[in-house]
Amino acid sequence: MKAIRVAQYGQPEDFMFENMPSPVPGKGEVLIEVAGSGVNPIDWKVLSGAMKAFIPLQLPYTPGVEVAGRVAALGEDASRFSVGDEVFGFIDIVGGYATEVVASEDRLAHRPSRLPALHASGVPAVALTAWQALHEHARIKAGQRVLIHGAAGGVGSMAVQMARITGAIVIATASDHNHGYLRELGASQVIDYNEMRFEALVEPVDVVLDLVGGDTQTRSWSVLKPGGVLVSPVSPPDPQQAEAAGATGKHFATRSDGAQLQGIAALFENGELAIEVEVLPLSQAESALRKSWGRHTRGKLVLDASL
Ligand SMILES: NC(=O)c1ccc[n+]([C@@H]2O[C@H](COP(=O)([O-])OP(=O)(O)OC[C@H]3O[C@@H](n4cnc5c(N)ncnc54)[C@H](OP(=O)(O)O)[C@@H]3O)[C@@H](O)[C@H]2O)c1
Repeated sequence: MKAIRVAQYGQPEDFMFENMPSPVPGKGEVLIEVAGSGVNPIDWKVLSGAMKAFIPLQLPYTPGVEVAGRVAALGEDASRFSVGDEVFGFIDIVGGYATEVVASEDRLAHRPSRLPALHASGVPAVALTAWQALHEHARIKAGQRVLIHGAAGGVGSMAVQMARITGAIVIATASDHNHGYLRELGASQVIDYNEMRFEALVEPVDVVLDLVGGDTQTRSWSVLKPGGVLVSPVSPPDPQQAEAAGATGKHFATRSDGAQLQGIAALFENGELAIEVEVLPLSQAESALRKSWGRHTRGKLVLDASL
């Protein structure tokens, strides 16, 4: 099998594309022949070395948190899937940029037949993040107003659709060229954050989903209704600012959860959710990661493991 390897923290230029022995599935694990691997900001955050205190890795390592592909072998006691099943999942914090991976079967779900494998490979991390933010942390309800910052990216494009499905009113921030895309996904109001300060245009909201952090998060307290929730997977909201706004701030790390992903898969199967992907060859993971690092991708970047 082949995999992208990182020998030292730094930049994507240092990626090596190497032949390696096939991994062997352990107890409760399956071997997956990978069709595609999703690219996420966590991949360049880990590569930069900024997370090594919290996520110590043995070098060299293979980047990538999610894949879609076909089950090729079962480890001991693995019983949820059969050889030949098409699956997808958020497999771990690293390991996905490869033509074969092993993954714990409880992190996987059957791939919806309506969703091509390359599209599916970009779904798990962002869809689980959006779902957990909206339904577990913010507990959104029909009729609520939800402001989503970074709406055109991977998590944001899922969150806009999931909030719309719940019956919420979605307000999104994005660059001008993404406004038509976000209206198609279900946003009622879209604000070009490059041109306007969102707090001058947004009527009070029940929920802010912050996918940007920094000043964008700080300025968001002013548009939250008392009792509202600001949820961010990017950085922890300041408790004093939350208290001053009479609101709640929540920070979380996404949990890999095969059962929850299977529920999300049903929304793709019935056509309620869709994902836009840009496909690059696995051998060009370096350019894909550089593009993600530029912070203006729309939908998801995915790597085709056959190229
Ligand atoms: N803690 C966790 O477990 C966890 C899990 C998932 C994600 N995250 C974090 O959540 C963030 C979002 O992830 P992602 O996968 O959605 O990233 P992404 O796909 O790379 O997001 C790219 C999008 O960000 C938008 N953007 C950039 N700056 C913006 C700004 N100032 N205001 C509004 N939009 C802006 C861009 O929109 P335009 O091109 O339209 O400008 C682009 O569409 C990342 O920081 C990621 O690390 C954390």
